[in-house]
Amino acid sequence: MPYGRHEELVASLNDGETFAAYSAVGAVFQVGFVPKVIGKSLVFLGNTFYGKEPSYGKFKAVEVIARIPYQSWELVSYMLLTMFYSDEKKAIELSKTARFGSAAQDNETMHVVVFSQLAKKYGQNSFFFHTLVPLGFSFFYFTSSFLLYLFSPRRAFELNYMFESHAFQQYSRFLELYGDELRHKPVMIDFLDFYGRHAKSEYELFQSIRNDEIIHRNRSMERAIECTRKASS
Ligand SMILES: [Fe+2]
Ligand SMILES: [Fe+2]
Repeated sequence: MPYGRHEELVASLNDGETFAAYSAVGAVFQVGFVPKVIGKSLVFLGNTFYGKEPSYGKFKAVEVIARIPYQSWELVSYMLLTMFYSDEKKAIELSKTARFGSAAQDNETMHVVVFSQLAKKYGQNSFFFHTLVPLGFSFFYFTSSFLLYLFSPRRAFELNYMFESHAFQQYSRFLELYGDELRHKPVMIDFLDFYGRHAKSEYELFQSIRNDEIIHRNRSMERAIECTRKASS
């Protein structure tokens, strides 16, 4: 989804009814065995290292990892396009994923830059837990996403559906726990302006990032369903 349309959708999800309808669309979705095991392991390990409840430090770790699948899909898509450019249908499919991967990667990059600033500001930025451990997770996640997308794109999208569902739940929970407090915290992060996102308070920032994650979740589900449809047609 192009940047402008994504930002429009993010803004529209601040409306309660629109949000309820959009979140209901992807709330229930069955994923395969392999993505379920990998997804649940990632969430379990994340909760073990950072606790079940969200925090600035945990969000930084989540966002370091969140960019990874998009990066690996884009890489595999362009790699495969080198071989299958003469198959027009396949080229369209691969280009669709490359576009999705590129735009979502930029969006997740904004998240990780913002959270590295916030984690620093609130003293939740230890080298071991918030830099080294997420790097280890990223290596594992990159390998899983790369291989899944190479051999079964549908399963790769399903794994991302699980990860994005978790991210969305964590942001929703943070807003539920600290919403009132966040309304009084201003945001001054240059990268946000550079990206083109505007938030007057941390509440607006967290709400917009929660909306990003639910868009990623639903878009991953849609891509998985498209793969299933193509396989059966
Ligand atoms: Fe994110
Ligand atoms: Fe995301």
